Amino acid sequence: MKSPFLIVAFALLSLPALAQKKPATPTSKPGTAAVSGVVLASGKKVYTQNCLTCHMADGGGVQNMNPPLTKTSYVLGDKTRLINVLLNGMEDQDIDGESYQNAMPAHDFLTDQQIADVLTYVRNSFGNKASAVQAAEVKTARAAKKK
Ligand code: HEC
Repeated sequence: MKSPFLIVAFALLSLPALAQKKPATPTSKPGTAAVSGVVLASGKKVYTQNCLTCHMADGGGVQNMNPPLTKTSYVLGDKTRLINVLLNGMEDQDIDGESYQNAMPAHDFLTDQQIADVLTYVRNSFGNKASAVQAAEVKTARAAKKK
């Protein structure tokens, strides 16, 4: 049987621990699926190796040459359209009312997973916040393209 003394001692000892308890960290907003750090790290690697030279480390692009990837209608819009930019490349298209002299080469040499990861990274970097792109979605777009 516990003595009252022990109970009081335990209560006193646990007080500082309770006081130090951090407030609950806010979880992601409802409706936005959490994006894993592993995917973001992988996407960043693909970005650094394949996209950074044109779209820059901060996604800001190069004026008149390469478009920014910050909150553009392509980046935040329909995922299939976005996936197709990578699979097919892009040329002579106005992006949110601006035109760019450079052409974007097709990146269909990347795997479904790499394309999914880099697009998830882009959609959740540079001030963007949008749902993840899944490898299965890239696979579907690639299959549709081959027909
Ligand atoms: C050789 C330079 C170059 C490389 C490398 C490149 N892009 Fe692009 N990208 C462009 C250009 C130029 C355009 C716009 C083409 C046009 O005006 O039609 C573009 C367009 C885009 C768009 C659609 C428009 C927008 O701004 O939202 C996205 C998304 C995009 N690129 C993502 C990527 C990703 C992700 C990679 C790496 C996997 C990549 N690009 C690699 C030059 C490049």
